[in-house]
Amino acid sequence: MGRERQGGMAVGAMAGGISVRSWPALVERVLAEANRPRSEDHGDRHWRAVAAAGRMLCERVPGSDREAVMLFALLHDTRRENEYSDPGHGPRAAAYLRRLVADGAVRGAADDIDRLAHAIARHADGLLDDDPTVGVCWDADRLNLWRVGIRPEPARLCTGAARGRELILWAQGLHETAPTWEEVLAPGFDPRSVGGEDPEWDLRWGDQGNDDDWPRGMRP
Ligand SMILES: [Fe+2]
Ligand SMILES: [Fe+2]
Repeated sequence: MGRERQGGMAVGAMAGGISVRSWPALVERVLAEANRPRSEDHGDRHWRAVAAAGRMLCERVPGSDREAVMLFALLHDTRRENEYSDPGHGPRAAAYLRRLVADGAVRGAADDIDRLAHAIARHADGLLDDDPTVGVCWDADRLNLWRVGIRPEPARLCTGAARGRELILWAQGLHETAPTWEEVLAPGFDPRSVGGEDPEWDLRWGDQGNDDDWPRGMRP
């Protein structure tokens, strides 16, 4: 498994793309159908914070599909059944995506839907992927680990863009400053308008202390 796509445009990932019939209607529907939309750690606020991180990363990762990343943010944790260990929540959310596609709420070429379904299904497995869209999806979620007291580890991020100290520290403030869906989905949204370093955090850069929070064996 590759660690990083070095330079160059990932043209394959750009082909086709994914589209949403109506974002406002989809957000309303997903909020109504999600298992735990009000969850502090895994509910709507987290999804919006992931979307904001996704916007920041899409600017920096050539070939990433922004529409797919926004769908990942909205859908990836909608099928959680609890706040702790729920290894089936990714696959259940991927099945939910398939239902939205069958309904016509989401459209896209089969390859693009398959890629997004993979990103959603495996997002909690601690994997790395060199596909730009999958990598941005997983990194956008992992940059938000701060909210549960975990400092994102550069070695566990897929894209070179996410691994930089500046972006990791920027993500500290994301959960508290998460934009609305209307804001984050707007073409002109500036991700620098949210996030920011949180001086309350006293973890020194380089501390190692998060290993138990990740699946065993994933530390490169
Ligand atoms: Fe999750
Ligand atoms: Fe998440």
